[in-house]
Amino acid sequence: MVKKNTCIFISGNGSNLKNLISKSREYNFPINIKLVICNNKTARGILYAKKYSIPYLIINTNDRNYENIIFNALRKYKVNFICLAGYMRIISSNFIKKFRKIIINIHPSLLPKFKGLNTFSRVLKNNECKTGCTVHYVNDQLDSGKIINKKIFFINKNDNENSLKKKTQRLEHLAFPEAIIKMFRYN
Ligand code: GRF
Repeated sequence: MVKKNTCIFISGNGSNLKNLISKSREYNFPINIKLVICNNKTARGILYAKKYSIPYLIINTNDRNYENIIFNALRKYKVNFICLAGYMRIISSNFIKKFRKIIINIHPSLLPKFKGLNTFSRVLKNNECKTGCTVHYVNDQLDSGKIINKKIFFINKNDNENSLKKKTQRLEHLAFPEAIIKMFRYN
């Protein structure tokens, strides 16, 4: 199997990055992580790139030129697949057009419900009985591309934002690799 040369974009803790790194080391998992891009120099997730000797690039999104900087790095590592794993910055439509390959994202709600930020507080405020996570293709509309995989759990009366986050992340660590397998394993 030819593995996809993959770049993971992060901004924070990197638990999804860590999980994908460990999956990618399985011989039949369809991606090789060639590069990590991070827009936050204090992000904990960078430690995983360091620990597993994966090249990483910290970018400053205030730099007018930052998308070109990303492009050059993607070209250098022959990246043909991008996973957004907690990347807290909108990808421009220009970027999507120029990259021309697949970009996917993981979102902590059952899309199309609760696009955007602060999902857990909105889920609670709305008295939802269930929530979960969604892996989807990235297009030029926020959290709106075609859905690849979803995982659901039921909310109980003792749940709060923290517990929802923990339960959602546990499911994310299943949903993201599953989505990637679904996309590529039999291609
Ligand atoms: C995840 O909950 C993801 O759904 C959201 O950002 C969070 C990233 O977590 N987009 P981590 O950095 O992978 O731990």
